[in-house]
Amino acid sequence: MDGDLREDLVHYFEQHHKLVESAALQLLLADGQPMVVSRELVERSEAASPFVTREMVEAALARRAPPRTGPLRTVPDRPALPRLSFELVREGFSGPPVAAQPLAAYEALFRSRFRVLARMLRGRPVLGNLRPIRELRATEGFASVIGMLRQVRETPQRHHLIVTVDDESGSLEVLVPKDSPGSRVPFLPDEVVGLRLQFGKEPGRLPRAVSVERPDVPPNRSVGRSAGPRRAIFLSDLHIGSRSFLAEPWGHLVDFLRGRGSHPELAATIEHVVIAGDLVDGIGIYPRQERDLAISDVVEQYAELGRRLSELPDRLTVVVIPGNHDAVCPAEPQPALPRALRVGLPSNVRVLSNPSTFALDGAVIEAYHGRSFDDLIPAIPGASYARPTEVMKRMLQMRHLAPIYGDRTPLAPLPYDGLVIDPAPDILVTGHAHTYGVDRYRGVLLLNASTWQAETEYQRMRNISPVPARAAVVDLSSLALATVDFSRSEPSFEGAPT
Ligand SMILES: [Fe+2]
Ligand SMILES: [Fe+2]
Repeated sequence: MDGDLREDLVHYFEQHHKLVESAALQLLLADGQPMVVSRELVERSEAASPFVTREMVEAALARRAPPRTGPLRTVPDRPALPRLSFELVREGFSGPPVAAQPLAAYEALFRSRFRVLARMLRGRPVLGNLRPIRELRATEGFASVIGMLRQVRETPQRHHLIVTVDDESGSLEVLVPKDSPGSRVPFLPDEVVGLRLQFGKEPGRLPRAVSVERPDVPPNRSVGRSAGPRRAIFLSDLHIGSRSFLAEPWGHLVDFLRGRGSHPELAATIEHVVIAGDLVDGIGIYPRQERDLAISDVVEQYAELGRRLSELPDRLTVVVIPGNHDAVCPAEPQPALPRALRVGLPSNVRVLSNPSTFALDGAVIEAYHGRSFDDLIPAIPGASYARPTEVMKRMLQMRHLAPIYGDRTPLAPLPYDGLVIDPAPDILVTGHAHTYGVDRYRGVLLLNASTWQAETEYQRMRNISPVPARAAVVDLSSLALATVDFSRSEPSFEGAPT
């Protein structure tokens, strides 16, 4: 019974775009009127926070409970809960794998992915007569399934698609006719889709997909936004320790943030810095990297990172996640930097895993380094490193940052799939591409933060032309954005700085 109630409560909060902490859920489940209290929480905290915390539940329970002794008193309404400037929602890395057998561990990972994404698809009107694959009956005419994509192939003559999907009960081949709406968005390996199927009269014919649904971001959702004119600046790919680290543009950034530049009033409203990975250049990441290194000891690289970050004003909250060049396990989700490498970092730096979801002044940020671009760009026709935000839209449609297993992005066999995008963020930020990109999709601001490394020999060889030393300054209340180019001594601004 408790399990059902738990699901109902989580679902109820999800419908109201709120994420409930497990400690808060525990308290609610122990109460006699969990739905009454939950409704009160949703109504009271409308727009104040995207989260339901243990403290909020405690406060709601205290409000309801009559005083045990003494006369009834009227208590003045509590002021609205103060908005925290930094709230951690979820770190992608959830501890080392628990299963001893690697196969069992990967099975648990994919089951977790399937269940979380299937929950987002279940209940949609278009997916009527939803069935486990094993229970499909061709005689019913129409039915729907939710499946994880195993394979796509083309029929030799007509070039229709035949997709194979699996659910927990079995697997199924489905025909997706060429030029049908469902065939327009390319299917990607290991993504989870909902398929509305039509069965033909003739026996042995494959069911046909009449509609393809993806988890996606809801089109109209309320979002947590900052109340005041507070801003965050987004950076990535510092590659400290590389000979190509752009020390001069970094100096311009430091001057700007310290209010010594042309827009001190803008700089004064910036409270947060987010750095989306590849903090240092690392060692042994690509062939003959040592020739490109100014600091060849990785511990020294992190010490230098600490010195660079202490140049920024210490009033700022600096959030950092690792990338594929950092000295943590490369399998994703990657854990946060270990203690030994954090010692030189200033105390205003928060070290999180890759990916991580957190709120800055109420705006929910999903930060992911972006290693999966290496797999998604070749898999999506027309995608390129020059326009990474197109790939980021696809991530939001799949509600997954790195679905493809067995290619260039190693996936860690954790019991919970930490690469699922949940909740839908206000801002999705990545790096890794060493370019700069801004776009919007269904109200989500997509940011591919630029690099602070000039072109290396290795990139020249791989035909990657970086767009370095740009920074995105985002107003957390309106999500309005200004781009600052720090590559020249007089930084230039694009977009509304005020
Ligand atoms: Fe990088
Ligand atoms: Fe990278």
